[in-house]
Amino acid sequence: MSISDRIRKSMAEGSWIRRMFEEGAVLKQRYGEENIFDLSLGNPVMEPPVEFKRELERLAEHPLPGMHRYMVNAGYAETRAAVAAQLSLETGIKFTLNDIVMTCGAAGAMNVVLRAILNPGDEVIVFAPYFVEYLHYIDNHNGVAKVLPTDEQFVPKLDVLEADIRAKTKAVIINSPNNPTGVVYSEDFIHRLGELLCQKETQYGAQIYIISDEPYRKIIYDGLKCPPVFHHHTQSIVVTSHSKDLVLPGERIGYIAVHPDCSQRNELVDGFIFCNRTLGYVNAPALMQHIVRHLQSVTVSIDEYQKKRDFLYGRLTEMGYSVVKPQGAFYMFPKSPLEDDVAFVAELQQWKVLTVPGSGFGTPGYFRLSYCVDDRTLEGCLAGFKKAAQKFNLG
Ligand SMILES: Cc1ncc(COP(=O)(O)O)c(C=O)c1O
Repeated sequence: MSISDRIRKSMAEGSWIRRMFEEGAVLKQRYGEENIFDLSLGNPVMEPPVEFKRELERLAEHPLPGMHRYMVNAGYAETRAAVAAQLSLETGIKFTLNDIVMTCGAAGAMNVVLRAILNPGDEVIVFAPYFVEYLHYIDNHNGVAKVLPTDEQFVPKLDVLEADIRAKTKAVIINSPNNPTGVVYSEDFIHRLGELLCQKETQYGAQIYIISDEPYRKIIYDGLKCPPVFHHHTQSIVVTSHSKDLVLPGERIGYIAVHPDCSQRNELVDGFIFCNRTLGYVNAPALMQHIVRHLQSVTVSIDEYQKKRDFLYGRLTEMGYSVVKPQGAFYMFPKSPLEDDVAFVAELQQWKVLTVPGSGFGTPGYFRLSYCVDDRTLEGCLAGFKKAAQKFNLG
């Protein structure tokens, strides 16, 4: 036996996204890449904004002394100060570099936070549909994931949450704009969530954190703004990255931001820094820290994503698919015309369209598609959706 029973079990349960990726690779080999319309991955086709290239060139031409050395585990002070300044601007709350820890992406940030706050058996609430890695991350650090439902608009049900918070509840993970639904939580919702958690903190005499996973915060449409969680709960921690807003997922650059008034903030941040080191990340990539320091107010073209959303949402709803209109991120989560979402996704595969079953996000009866793809793929997938719609009598 080479690997632990625990990991073998997790691998066997598997990730649907990975499974679809593997099946897609087989189809691409068989039919040619250009004949397969792959909407299964959240790996944007866009290039980073021009400002990124400019900074990269500037750094190559004028290297800083010692720029590839080890650093403090929290990351460069200048970068943390730049992140804090941008957050202060966006929220009106005064952040300093002491509230920020640079991390290896949002995924690294989430693992660091969970590692630092969880005692074995502590519960972490997640809402379905969820980003499937949350369950693994919680398990990594001996927490227990408690999955709660959302309503028909994919907004968490606060009455259910209220009934399910217990003394062991350590944190609630939210993700807005959301993967897989594209939903953006309203200010009113976040306010009510904050009030509820405050009330429960008083009841149990303990902190209950909101961990707000925000890699899509800046990818938001129709002039909407993403309401800052910091306005509504003092025990709030944002984990995020530049994987999506600067299109740098392979570069692994992100950060943790803690509410400046969070109780025992210094100990919390010290815990994050310790865990960044001892989980083996050590620090966020140096080169990227030097670059994103100058790009805090830069974002990839949102208009392009919005055009893609409008195109696909328009065509799918015309065909009769039932879809909650995404307000951000670059995913849609339509209702599956078949009760069995896995069977429907297999059906779409017959028409050379790759998507992911909702079961992979804890919500059977739906499927997810990513529209961060080129226009050829977006246009090409329509024939398959149309055939499936006709077969199942939509519209
Ligand atoms: C909701 C959500 N959280 C976290 C991540 C991880 O992002 P990162 O590349 O910054 O680790 C992703 C990536 O797709 C995501 O969709």
